[in-house]
Amino acid sequence: MPTVLEALKNRSSKRAYTDKKIPKDILEKILTAAGMTPSGANMQPWVTYAVTNEATLAKVGNAIIEKMNAGFTNDQDVQYYPVKWTNPYKKRRIVTGAGLYKLMEVDRKDDETRLQMWKDNFRWFGASTVIFVFTAKANIEGAAGAYIDCGAYMQSIMLAAQEFGIDSCPQGSTTEFGRVVAKELEVPENLALLYSVVLGYADENAKINTYQPEKVKLEESVTFID
Ligand SMILES: Cc1cc2nc3c(=O)[nH]c(=O)nc-3n(C[C@H](O)[C@H](O)[C@H](O)COP(=O)(O)O)c2cc1C
Repeated sequence: MPTVLEALKNRSSKRAYTDKKIPKDILEKILTAAGMTPSGANMQPWVTYAVTNEATLAKVGNAIIEKMNAGFTNDQDVQYYPVKWTNPYKKRRIVTGAGLYKLMEVDRKDDETRLQMWKDNFRWFGASTVIFVFTAKANIEGAAGAYIDCGAYMQSIMLAAQEFGIDSCPQGSTTEFGRVVAKELEVPENLALLYSVVLGYADENAKINTYQPEKVKLEESVTFID
């Protein structure tokens, strides 16, 4: 069983999965543990749909891909990525993307392959479980607390999964099509999709799963005031 530090260190985003299903009791344990995540005023603003139904996942993914094929770049309630990219974040994004394409031997100018790789998000990287996390739109009207709380909840899901040998990939790509997801899952009108997390057993033979993007050194992100 990994320690918390080991789980933090060992977790990395996996983008290819075997078709092995997560037993329901383990999924319940992961989500029960994640439910212990702290939140401001104990608001627990996450509203979670844990989808394992194959037809439903295909329906949601296909609806997003259809929307993309119709020329839409988003259909969202929440803007996840910065509208204005500034450094050092812009550079980190570029380096991280370039590293993945280099590993996969995809040319920087090969837009079609890159698009197909992005669309893999909506095929859930072959995983059979996807956790969609919504919050009430009222929680995020002029306030950021629910984003913070639900971000912590995301990490809790991914760390708890590590204990059972289950890997994950968080997805902001679905946030960009949050209204499509909400419609296909028939969630109440008052909810907005914040993100999804793919969960499953990583394919250990998949090259893409060896990718470990570099993280900045402690000194670059932390200021100690002793
Ligand atoms: C909120 C959030 C959204 C993300 N969205 C996507 C996504 O849509 N597709 C994807 O392949 N990876 C996505 N990622 C994974 C990041 O690319 C990844 O966390 C980052 O490159 C660091 O790599 P690591 O997770 O392996 O440490 C997302 C991560 C987070 C935290």
